[in-house]
Amino acid sequence: MANNDRVFIFDTTLRDGEQAPGASMNQKEKLDIAFALERLGVDIIEAGFPVISKGDFDSVRLVAENIKESTICGLARSIKKDIDAAAEALQSAKQKRIHVFLATSKIHMEHKFKKSQEQILQMAVDAVKYAKSKVDDVEFSPEDASRSDRDFIFKVLEEVIKVGATTVNIPDTVGYAMPAEYGGLIEAIRNNVPNIDKAVISTHCHDDLGVAVANSLAAVTRGARQVECTINGIGERAGNASMEEVVMAINTRSDFYGLKTGIKTREFLRTSHLVSKYTGFTVPPNKAIVGSNAFRHESGIHQDGILKERSTYEIMQPEDVGYVGTGLVLGKHSGRHAFKDRLRELGIVLSDEDLDKAFGRFKNVADKKKQVFDEDLIAIVDDEVHTFQETWHLDSITLQSGTNIPSKVSVTLKSDGQTHQKEVVGEGPVDTCYKAIDALTNVKGELMDYSIRSVSRGKDALGEVSVKVKFKGKGQTIIAHGTSTDILEASAKAYVNALNKLLSQEANRKKNS
Ligand code: KIV
Ligand code: ZN
Repeated sequence: MANNDRVFIFDTTLRDGEQAPGASMNQKEKLDIAFALERLGVDIIEAGFPVISKGDFDSVRLVAENIKESTICGLARSIKKDIDAAAEALQSAKQKRIHVFLATSKIHMEHKFKKSQEQILQMAVDAVKYAKSKVDDVEFSPEDASRSDRDFIFKVLEEVIKVGATTVNIPDTVGYAMPAEYGGLIEAIRNNVPNIDKAVISTHCHDDLGVAVANSLAAVTRGARQVECTINGIGERAGNASMEEVVMAINTRSDFYGLKTGIKTREFLRTSHLVSKYTGFTVPPNKAIVGSNAFRHESGIHQDGILKERSTYEIMQPEDVGYVGTGLVLGKHSGRHAFKDRLRELGIVLSDEDLDKAFGRFKNVADKKKQVFDEDLIAIVDDEVHTFQETWHLDSITLQSGTNIPSKVSVTLKSDGQTHQKEVVGEGPVDTCYKAIDALTNVKGELMDYSIRSVSRGKDALGEVSVKVKFKGKGQTIIAHGTSTDILEASAKAYVNALNKLLSQEANRKKNS
């Protein structure tokens, strides 16, 4: 295929995705996701908005220092200090881009800026010129483009391209456009911006009306060659176009689109799990491509068809997006070697120390559970290999509870080689257990959200508890997980992990200040 058939994938999970309410991630988590995006073959990773906070600045810098294959991008308003911060954070990136944005719709110009079209045009040109003095690769976004006056955006795009913008992104900021309309806008830009051949046209679609993916795809049929998207479609409000859906549509319907991307689609499932784990946003079972039901066939007629010929009801191969066989893989007699090999097949490579921890836990689970599935192995590794220091370690819990009696929970925690134990009587087992942990650690947490899911099948399945906790006197909420065949143990682990995460973040902040 000619080069013009290549669609660049610009991932904004770490920037727009992280703007989703409650999705904030720590630096280590962001770096893990950046590595996963690099493995996926993402062309451009928007790593954050450096001027927003020291944390954002540091995360962009960390990603820039570590990622070699993808271009690293930092977002900036059309203001010098934003562009300076982005340039500085990106300094060590092998390939870097500054993404400058400025609203062009009447609503935004009047209410946010109280500025005329002429003033906005000048600001955009000045900002792109300034960004260009810092890096070669500059992207410009007329925010709220889909609700902007068309002649005005044509003019803005022409002028920013003249001063060096190499990508012009067309945001449907509020998810208002319909596919034919958005596709039409892209075509109009191609026909009315005289120097448009000097820049790549990009899409950035929000999902408020559920058409972000459809809009992005309509745009590529009309000449857009970069799609901005996120893993699992996370993002501000209803989210952004989902990368896995856009890419799989382009691949599966190559007969229709005649286009290609550089994405290694077999990494989708793993990356989706990672983003879900770190943001605490569970993927709905019916979510296209990465939902747990996406390749499951329930009806007898469909199952019969599939057994005779897969293509009767399957338009994609599950393996192509990273599903691995979910049959029984390992049992309690399996050794460290087999365990390590299976993890490698699942794309998980651990250090010797982490492998020892995960293997010890596997043996423990295999003793309790008849069948150990791939999903269990992934959950075991997630539970044992942390992105934070384990200041407090859950040693044991005992519970006395019943329908008509209060719960009595005794929790034993270890910290710095010391053992601490506390018994509390209260209303429900989970609440009582959390009260005991608060008392032991001297930090009071408020549970903002709690959910539990079964990791794999069967009554003896591992349960994964996700919690969102706000600790007294601390600003941010923390999302954490715990896994066990025992629900109370999983709940306690999740809560202790949340506290450990908070303490690690505080320690890192202190170290860096
Ligand atoms: O939705 C939007 O308009 C944005 C811009 C910053 C590109 O996220
Ligand atoms: Zn956006």
